[in-house]
Amino acid sequence: MKLDPIQAASAAQFGRQSAFYGKGHILAQTADIEGALRHIPLAAGWRALDVATGGGHTGLLLAEKGCIVTLGDIAAPMLERAAALGRERGLQVATRVFPAETMPFADGEFDLVSCRVAPHHFSDPPGFVRETARVLRPGGYFLLIDGSIEDGRPEAEAWLHHVEKLRDPSHHRFWSDATWRRWCGESGLEVLHCELQPMKQPDLEWYFTAADTPPANREQVRAAIRTASPAVREFMRLGEEDGKTVWWWQRLVLVARKDAR
Ligand SMILES: C[S@@+](CC[C@H](N)C(=O)[O-])C[C@H]1O[C@@H](n2cnc3c(N)ncnc32)[C@H](O)[C@@H]1O
Repeated sequence: MKLDPIQAASAAQFGRQSAFYGKGHILAQTADIEGALRHIPLAAGWRALDVATGGGHTGLLLAEKGCIVTLGDIAAPMLERAAALGRERGLQVATRVFPAETMPFADGEFDLVSCRVAPHHFSDPPGFVRETARVLRPGGYFLLIDGSIEDGRPEAEAWLHHVEKLRDPSHHRFWSDATWRRWCGESGLEVLHCELQPMKQPDLEWYFTAADTPPANREQVRAAIRTASPAVREFMRLGEEDGKTVWWWQRLVLVARKDAR
């Protein structure tokens, strides 16, 4: 599998950190997915592809709801752990290593493609959306959840990008809701639901541990927090709670449907 430098950075980073993304991770809390599923007429027996599955929390939830699930990820150790977690929960899932930008599936193979808290690592997100549309059957659904930042906030966007890149070098970019809507439209996916929800980053030190951030980068992040402008501080709701550094992201929840014809 030939990877571009951005994909290779993710494969290395998440291959190393896979042990951290299992049961105790905040991503194991799936209320955001349950909320998004209210916009999808999910039925048992649907063929679902969970792209960039990480610890498998989205794909395994779909399997529990009766879907026939394939978990995909660029990092093989993630898939091994996700499949093991599935077995613990009595769930059978298929796994496949591939980059989100090039999917090894035939046209129209899936009823649902999901992807949660991962596209900010992708080197070619519009390519990922095109591939999603290709592998969906006519009338199939796309469920996307990821960190985002609305258009018109260049200072906060630059601050967040700086911090995320220092924390985890495999971070690539957060994209606005408007940009995701445009990419969906260009690929023949009609957006049925799109919202930005507030989502708390609950503890900077835990967040460093998740990515195994080098000590020098941690210092630079702390400096970026100390020196953040009042406008950034207010927009990101940067603060201290019980001795922990917290801020709030915008979480994009988007559901789209491929043209049924
Ligand atoms: C935070 S985890 C995903 C969390 C997971 N989707 C969930 O619901 O809990 C991010 C995952 O994206 C994967 N990833 C990053 N870039 C990728 C790419 N270009 N193609 C496929 N997977 C990728 C990483 O290997 C990692 O497992």
